[in-house]
This record gives sequence, structure tokens and C-alpha cells, in this order.
Amino acid sequence: MLSSCLCAAAESGTSRIPVAEPWWKGAVIYEIFVRSFQDSNGDGIGDLNGITSRLDYLRDLGVDAIWLTPCYPSPLIDFGYDVADYKAIAPEYGTLADFDRLVAEARKRNIRIMLDLVLNHTSDKHAWFQESRASVNSAKRNWYSWQDGKAGGLPPNDWKSEFRGSAWTLDAATGQYYFHRFWPEQPDLNWRNPEVRNAMFDVVRFWLKRGLAGFRLDAVPSMFEDPNIASPSESFDQMPETHQVLRQLRAVVDEFPGDRLLLGETYTNNAAELASWYGKGNEIHLPLNFQFDLVNHVSAPEFRQRLADEQHNLPKAWPAHFLSSHDQSRQIDRYRDGAHDEAIAKLMATLLLTARGTPVMNYGEEIGMRTMTPTRVEDVRDMDGIRNWPEKKGRDGERTPMQWNEEATAGFSNAKPWLPVPPNTTTINVAAEQTDPSSLLNFYKQLTRARRSSAALKYGTYHEMDAGDPDILAFVRKDGVSNQRVLIVLNMSPNPRTAKFPALVGQKMRALVNTGGRNADAADDGIRLSSFGAVVLELK
Ligand code: GLC
Ligand code: CA
Repeated sequence: MLSSCLCAAAESGTSRIPVAEPWWKGAVIYEIFVRSFQDSNGDGIGDLNGITSRLDYLRDLGVDAIWLTPCYPSPLIDFGYDVADYKAIAPEYGTLADFDRLVAEARKRNIRIMLDLVLNHTSDKHAWFQESRASVNSAKRNWYSWQDGKAGGLPPNDWKSEFRGSAWTLDAATGQYYFHRFWPEQPDLNWRNPEVRNAMFDVVRFWLKRGLAGFRLDAVPSMFEDPNIASPSESFDQMPETHQVLRQLRAVVDEFPGDRLLLGETYTNNAAELASWYGKGNEIHLPLNFQFDLVNHVSAPEFRQRLADEQHNLPKAWPAHFLSSHDQSRQIDRYRDGAHDEAIAKLMATLLLTARGTPVMNYGEEIGMRTMTPTRVEDVRDMDGIRNWPEKKGRDGERTPMQWNEEATAGFSNAKPWLPVPPNTTTINVAAEQTDPSSLLNFYKQLTRARRSSAALKYGTYHEMDAGDPDILAFVRKDGVSNQRVLIVLNMSPNPRTAKFPALVGQKMRALVNTGGRNADAADDGIRLSSFGAVVLELK
């Protein structure tokens, strides 16, 4: 009911206790694909010093934390998600000293640094696997999952790899098969072995001691397989033991002061399972909600449903949302209609940055970078495209160099970039958008500024306001301490629409963000919204 959703917080039982919230609740997290953000030494490959040189840009954008994709030494079969040494920086990305400097320089700008932690598997070149595969009697044999094959030269069962083919590869030297959820060059660790847990927790402490703010946990649901290898390929994930490890991992993280964060790649289309990744508040702080991300088009009813599901399933837990990443098409390409692309990009940015929860954005999203999918197999760099061409084209399209300016190398590098720069860098680039007040980049800055200035947008509860409108998604965020309330109205249709809120007649409003709404100071006659218009209004 509209009236009840606007009543004083204390009455609704949702008041926020006036204690300092953990930093990550109000934060904007920004993913950087390290190889593609900024090259500092002219080899065409992005690196840590390059990121350090761009920290002022990220501060001005309103970023609170950066998640770096894996920058550990790696043979790059899966662009760093095949780690050969968890306690070092790959030479092409820099040194540990460069990492420390990045952390220190970021801290000066109130930006935190997070790393990607690949838990499920290592590279086959990691010393642990080299030792494991050396002999069936190796002290580390049991650090990975080894099995005898079936008669007739068949693998132990029909379990499939995420990327291609069987999840088992025969190791000719010892005559046994090892399990790999992803590529054969990414053997799965055996998390049932306490030595593996301790070795990985040691890695976690190594980085947290260096001032790391937390980790993005890779491929969480894949950590355990059914010990019964006769179970069907569709259902070999084993969740209960994963939760046990996550509680142990959380305890390690909690040894350190400062609210170190665990952000989880918790892919699932099951809302109850998503809820389970929080544990009893003692597992992952922010399991990413992939169900939100599953809505691939602009639709008020579908996003309303996802937000309602979240309210229902996560009444106490804090959500985390994203609209694009290094694994999937860019935000603008997922939602654009060809006629209102920029308006839609702004609309979706508004949803991401005003929904209850922590937003995670992908580098370049703020300037509307496009997905540039390779058209010729010889151009592909992602193994998923190389080995699966033409069925799969890989993920290079969303990993192209950051577009800083209109030059041929986009200001990313002095040399030939490791992936081609999209020709559209002549118009889609940071320099051009910085000087255009109505650009997408300046719109993102408005949104992050609005969030910073508003406890309701950062910490507030969620109250649905649109009662089933097919085009308009509207909700109020309310902060239980200050009682600040902010109304978000999103026209998810190409038709200009007037949104009326009977409960708000006489209500004074002030626009924090507005992409084409009219009458946005008092809603008595309704708020008129242009095609795909978005307004964020503080209720006075
Ligand atoms: C995660 C990463 C993806 C990688 C996979 C295997 O899904 O996001 O890029 O390929 O894990 O490590
Ligand atoms: Ca470089």
C-alpha cells in the first residue's frame, strides 16, 4: 500500500540503526579488465601503473572500489582465470611494488582495491598441479580430483566442462583422469582436502595484509562436485560443503579490520539459492544477483518482479547488482533499441545506481562502450571463441581497450593494443564526453553524486510505487535514520508517459537527476516523462 510505504520508518519496523554502515553498502564498485584499461609502458597491454595513472578519473566518476580481474602470473588460456601463482603479479601487469603503490594512491582518493580470487581451479602450470600430476604417490596428488577411467578408454563419467567437451582429461604419464569444470588447462582444486583450504586461506591473508579491501570470488557454485561420480551431469554441484568453506573463508577475512569484502560470482537462477550464499550473515557479504542481470530487455514488469523477488527472498540481506561484465555483452548493447540508445543507457544506469543494493559496473559502461564481437576467427583472442568458433565467438567484444580519446589507439597505449580498438572511439570516448554536459559519462557522475549525498539512495529500504504499470517502474527509497525519501520513476517504454502518484499529492519534490521528466517539483498533475525518461526526486 502506498500510504503505508511512506509512513515514518519507526512504525514500519525498518528503521536503520544510526551506526556506521560498512563501506561496501553505499559503494559503487567498478570492474577493471586489467589488460584493457591503460597501458603505461608501451607494450599494448594494460597494466597496474596504467590504472594508477587513471585514478583521478575514477575518483571524479564517483567510484568507491575497483575490482581488478586476475592479474596473477598466468599462461592466459582463460585470460588470467588460470592462475599459475596466487602470490605474485604477472610481469606484463607490473610488480608487487606497483600493486602496493596502486593501493596507496587509491586510498588517497578514498578508492579501495579488490582482487579476483579464482578458487575453483588453478592453471595446469601452477606448481601445485605440476607436483600433483607428477605421480600417483605425490604429496599433492589429492589437491586435485583424480580418477581412474572406465573400461574401453572412457572418462570416469559423462560430466561436461562449461566450455567444451568432457570435464575429464587423461594424464598419460600416470594413466588417470583429472577433473576440470572449465578448460583442461584449469584443473579443479579438491576443496575437500584441508591442505588446499589452508593454502588458499594463506593466499587470502597475503593480500589482505597488503591492504586489499576484499575479493571478488570466481565461480563460487562450482567449488564442489558430487562425490558420487555416478550422478548426472546436470546436477553434480554440491552446495553444502561450499557453504562450509565460505564460512571458513569469511572468518579469515574477518581477522582483518576495516570491513574487508567478499563479492561473489554466485550464478544461479534460483532465488532461494541466491539467499543461501549470505549464510547467516557469515558467508559472502555481496553475492551478485544474476537474476536481475537475466532480464535482457527493458521491461517495467520484469524488473519490478525481480526487485519484488529480491525483497521477498532477501528481506534482511543487502543485494548486489550488475548489468554487464567481462563475460557478457555491454550494458548499452543488451538494452538498446536502435532509436533511443542513449536514453535507454541512462535509464538502465539509473536503475542500477538507485535500486536497493550495491551496484557493480563494468569499465567503459559509463561512456557507452559497445561490444565489438570479432568477425574473423584469426582475430579472436579468447579461447572460448578460438576453440569453439563459429558456434561461440568468445568474450573479446566486451574486453576491448578503454576508449580515452579519439585517436587510433584510443589513448589506451602508444603501441598496437592487444585487442583492436573499436572504430567508434572517434565519437565514443572519455575526452569527448567530459566536455559534453549531456553525455552518458556526465550522467553517471550525476548519479554517483546523488548517491553520495543521499542516505536514502545508499542505505534506504525499497517500496514499490507503480502498482503494476506496464511502462513505469517506480519506487521509493527511504532512510530509517534521517527519514529522507527519494522517489525513482523510470519510463521503460518509448512512449512519453505521465506517472501519477495519488499518495504524493501536495508533496514537494526536488530533482536530483532528470533525463527529461517535466513537472518534477510537485507531482499533483503527474510527472511527465519522455521516451525512456528517468527521474530521481527527493521528497521534501
Ligand atoms: C568466471 C569468470 C570467467 C572465467 C570462468 C572460469 O566465470 O568470470 O571469465 O572464464 O570463471 O574461471
Ligand atoms: Ca603495459
